[in-house]
Amino acid sequence: MDILILAAGLGTRMRSNTAKVLHKLDGRPLIDHVCRAAVQLEPQKICVIVGHQADAVKDAISAGGFEHVDTAVQTRQLGTGDAVNAARDNFAGRDSKLLVLSGDVPMIKASTLNDLIAAHDTAGAVCTILTVKLADPTGYGRVVRNNDKFDRIVEQKDANADELKVDEINSGIYCFDTQKLYDALSQVGNNNAQGEYYLTDVPSIMHAAGEKVGLFLHNDQHEIEGVNDRRQLAAMEAELRRRSIERLMLESGVTFIDPTSAYISSTATIGRDTVIYQNVTVEGDTAIGENCVIRPGARITDSQIADDVEIRDNTFITDSTVGKSCAVGPMAHLRGHAVMADGSKVGNFVELKKTTLGRGSKASHLTYLGDATIGEKTNIGAGTITCNYDGKNKHQTQIGDGVKIGSDTMLVAPVKIGDGASTGAGSVVTKDVDAGSLVVGVPAKRK
Ligand code: UD1
Ligand code: MG
Repeated sequence: MDILILAAGLGTRMRSNTAKVLHKLDGRPLIDHVCRAAVQLEPQKICVIVGHQADAVKDAISAGGFEHVDTAVQTRQLGTGDAVNAARDNFAGRDSKLLVLSGDVPMIKASTLNDLIAAHDTAGAVCTILTVKLADPTGYGRVVRNNDKFDRIVEQKDANADELKVDEINSGIYCFDTQKLYDALSQVGNNNAQGEYYLTDVPSIMHAAGEKVGLFLHNDQHEIEGVNDRRQLAAMEAELRRRSIERLMLESGVTFIDPTSAYISSTATIGRDTVIYQNVTVEGDTAIGENCVIRPGARITDSQIADDVEIRDNTFITDSTVGKSCAVGPMAHLRGHAVMADGSKVGNFVELKKTTLGRGSKASHLTYLGDATIGEKTNIGAGTITCNYDGKNKHQTQIGDGVKIGSDTMLVAPVKIGDGASTGAGSVVTKDVDAGSLVVGVPAKRK
């Protein structure tokens, strides 16, 4: 089995300068969602048809880590049939099945595609179309049956009044006999309302030639919805979010104070008895442990939060790790692989960048710690700054265990502060400080 994904269109109805399949759902481009489903089926070949902003679409595919996905270029967007034709050299002549997916139908599940393929095989069909019934089928191609069997697909713009009443729609997802698909495609013309070469004419051509065309009616309408305009994109985002939050409540035992205002990515995990307040955003591959409290306005992206942590209001954490029983915020910022060891504390207006704060250490107020390693049970006074950048390069600050950094200390990196040392309030430390010693003044001298 091979897979072909159609993604060359601009998506005029999006009214965007960005190609439709690059618009994001759940924080990832639409094309990334479809590639993920395709890869799970372990086909022999996967090919994406690119056209509009081909390079950007190819970049998005590589950024998703899909190295084994090929691309073929459709130079002019003459319709979905023409798009499949653009991959003729990749597939024609192969004794295989070709699963055709649409780059703008992102919620499709691998399990549904497996069911479609199984139905195709069992029926011995040359084409099987994935369909669904919609309360409002406006915009989609209608699947017209005759004696309950496939007869034709009619696009919205070509449909007559009776055909428009049909509620079963074409998902744009099909399983084909590869050779028969390319044979039939040669007969597709563009005599229709849009002057395009429709892939949807292929099943009708096969049917007219006496071949078996099957219909596989699915029950989950959301999985099959296409994204054609921004209203549909927003509705799909809301549906994905609703599903993620429902799964977390019912399966993981997470409390949501207001499920309608929290945003949780579908790839995030959250542990039992954690409480998520209103307006919390959890993005990407974030993992949050058990018994945590995430207060209003927090945003956590691609980070790991251990058990028993409190993230206070309006804190932003990205690409970072927070250990067990830590407290962060309000209004704190962790980034660039910051690490808070177990039992450490970061308070209001504190930023940690590429910094490790040791077990039980505290930076409670108004502090910037960048490119620093801080030991255990150390206290960083209010207003402390690691002056890590000399205008050209970044330098390291190392602070030992049990250190007391006085309020408003400037640590001019590179610099090391030994275990048990102290700095006086307002000191500017330009040289290493020995263990157990006290330095004060500008520049700081040993006292
Ligand atoms: C298509 C189907 C319609 C179906 C709907 C399901 C046709 C003619 N119609 O309509 O029956 O109900 O999908 O979502 O197939 N594309 C290309 N090159 C082109 C044109 C399109 O690669 O020249 C790609 C687009 O990037 C998109 C996909 O094919 O990912 C579908 O194209 P779109 O224009 O959205 O088709 P629909 O009008 O939605
Ligand atoms: Mg579409």
